[in-house]
Amino acid sequence: MLSAHQWRQDGVPVPALNARIHPHYGVFPPTRNEYVDLVATARMTGVRTAFDIGTGTGVLAAVLAKRGVRRVVATDIAPQAVACARDNIHRLGLSGRVTVTQTDLFPPGRADLVVCNPPWLPATPSSPLDAAVFDRGGRMLSGFIRGVADHLTPGGEAWLVLSDLAELLRLRTRAQLLTEFAAAGLAVRGRMEVRPRPARDARDLLAAARAAERVSLWRLGPENGG
Ligand SMILES: C[S@@+](CC[C@H](N)C(=O)[O-])C[C@H]1O[C@@H](n2cnc3c(N)ncnc32)[C@H](O)[C@@H]1O
Repeated sequence: MLSAHQWRQDGVPVPALNARIHPHYGVFPPTRNEYVDLVATARMTGVRTAFDIGTGTGVLAAVLAKRGVRRVVATDIAPQAVACARDNIHRLGLSGRVTVTQTDLFPPGRADLVVCNPPWLPATPSSPLDAAVFDRGGRMLSGFIRGVADHLTPGGEAWLVLSDLAELLRLRTRAQLLTEFAAAGLAVRGRMEVRPRPARDARDLLAAARAAERVSLWRLGPENGG
């Protein structure tokens, strides 16, 4: 609670933004920069509109806006995340480019780029706090994969940011993920991978899995080219 209060008050540094992001209590904090850097550095051309699905603090929407995307719609299902993202977008002076809405997955319409960093573990959240980390039955991930093609403009691309932690903990296999992409008519156009900095106190089972963890940015698009 105390560190959550401190985070909200002081913010956490996000080098990709050259600014601080202020996570509210119960909202996923961007304390690990690796996944933010993936979104900040992935090749991006001709993107005028973007959706950020499950925006949390709004950090990825802010990165996209700072990269020059003119119109970003950020969604989150959790009211505390929506309030937090609006606060951060306002602090960063990006309200003219980024709109935040409380929505289950996608806003209406289509965008050139649809980004999503879903909770990384398919497991049952026991509190609203857990819901940023645990994805009940993999619902958000599956919903994103199944629905994203219908929200892309022709030639558009989806970026799915996903850790392989669920694979390392045997909660999902890589084959299952690839099968889900194919079943949704999505082709993998590329993948960037980063190895997060391991935690310093890597002693328990979860920490051991985290030491081997890789985070990927999957570039996906409709198989027919969209
Ligand atoms: C791992 S956090 C990522 C937050 C932020 N995008 C980031 O990268 O730091 C996942 C977010 O997805 C949100 N979420 C979960 N299910 C959702 C759904 N069905 N529709 C929209 N957002 C959802 C959670 O509330 C949480 O804020």
